[in-house]
Amino acid sequence: MDVRVEDQIVINKLQAYSSADDSYWSFKGRSTRKHCHALIQYPAMMVPQMQGELIDAIQSVDSNITTVFDPFVGSGTTMGESMMRGLDFVGHDINPLAILACEVKSGPLYVRKLDEKIISVLGFIEQNNVSEVAVSFKGIDKWFLPEVQLELSTIYIAIKAEPSKWARKIFWLALSNTVRSTCNSRSSTYKLHIKSEEQIEKIGSAKNIFKKNLLKSFENIKAQKAMLAEKGYLNRSKGIGQVTIKNVDAKLRKKSKLKFDLLVSSPPYGDNSTTVTYGQFSYLPLQWIDLTDINENIDSSMLSYQNAIDSSSLGGSLKESKDKRLKLINRSSSLEKCIEKILKVNPDNIKKLISFVYDLDLSLKNAIEELRENAYMIWTLGNRRISDIEVPLDRIMRELLESRGCTYVYEIERTIPSKRMASRNQIASTMGKESVLIMRR
Ligand SMILES: C[S@@+](CC[C@H](N)C(=O)[O-])C[C@H]1O[C@@H](n2cnc3c(N)ncnc32)[C@H](O)[C@@H]1O
Repeated sequence: MDVRVEDQIVINKLQAYSSADDSYWSFKGRSTRKHCHALIQYPAMMVPQMQGELIDAIQSVDSNITTVFDPFVGSGTTMGESMMRGLDFVGHDINPLAILACEVKSGPLYVRKLDEKIISVLGFIEQNNVSEVAVSFKGIDKWFLPEVQLELSTIYIAIKAEPSKWARKIFWLALSNTVRSTCNSRSSTYKLHIKSEEQIEKIGSAKNIFKKNLLKSFENIKAQKAMLAEKGYLNRSKGIGQVTIKNVDAKLRKKSKLKFDLLVSSPPYGDNSTTVTYGQFSYLPLQWIDLTDINENIDSSMLSYQNAIDSSSLGGSLKESKDKRLKLINRSSSLEKCIEKILKVNPDNIKKLISFVYDLDLSLKNAIEELRENAYMIWTLGNRRISDIEVPLDRIMRELLESRGCTYVYEIERTIPSKRMASRNQIASTMGKESVLIMRR
């Protein structure tokens, strides 16, 4: 079959990078997280520079791109890169913490006012010590030392006293990073897992950590604003691109009338019980945030128990896996082969794979319905293992998308240099590799 001219140009462009340097896509030494990308620590974040270059490559053949869509927006890596290109952006995620992070990153970036407000909130925190814990939730005493609870409560009260919602959101995000550093759960895993007594003894002062985090956030917001201004994409204190962030479940979304021009995204990797537990990662920070400050209406039942977010995420329900398999059977031969292999080793584990792929497929259906004709999709994917068998998510995704009428354009396989924080390669399992699958609607 003839390759469409535009697709060939994209292929040539991407191939040129790797033929000049075969480790080009590893982004080793070029993947620092700066400005808005450094505002939150979130699991499995993409490399901003790489997503930016991929957007540029697609824009070079498709000059009609105005709106970028990310149905699994997470910390908003693609959002930040879209803003830096003056593009409109729509991002969805099931996790309220992701929504808060994206709302902060999208501005407004009132740097001068923020400076004053930071002085005032830090002054309050320094001068006050509350004597009652400001929030209550199941397990609070397990996950926080009594003195940490009181310090976090003082910060909580100080943030609540700030009159401007845009500033409170920045403060909540800095508090969320503080909660992660001062809770009794290990930082080496995204799951809630109690630290050793020795580690708990070393937990620092929440007030000091918050101050450090907030001052860092200020520098990052200032840098983001300066960069947008330098590129000519700043209008007063906002990026010129319009940003819309919504708290939605990708697999349930109803059709909208919008048609996006480019999709750039990274779905979760697999079942939640063994891979990235975005919900568990966010559970403790979200208990210390006033959710009514998030613009989007947040369903508070998402916080009712530790696994509530993860159970609603892709692959969260293992029910009806036989029926689900039947619905997928003719759509992806790679999936079927993988199921057969796992069946021989550990039959119970196929439910996880089937449920995840079934939910992923529903999300793909919803996502492509929101794209205009010939819109490109850039999917960053990790291949993980179940029962020590590699799940070829890249091939499964390609086949599922082809069965829905999409065209394969190109695939990049990249090695992931190891990072300090539990990173994509620990999760993606296959020797620190991930794929970028480029398809067209
Ligand atoms: C790989 S992460 C995205 C990371 C993002 N690309 C970044 O750089 O930060 C996948 C995201 O999918 C979200 N997610 C999982 N299940 C979802 C669902 N059913 N609907 C919407 N989002 C979901 C998770 O909350 C997580 O934020």
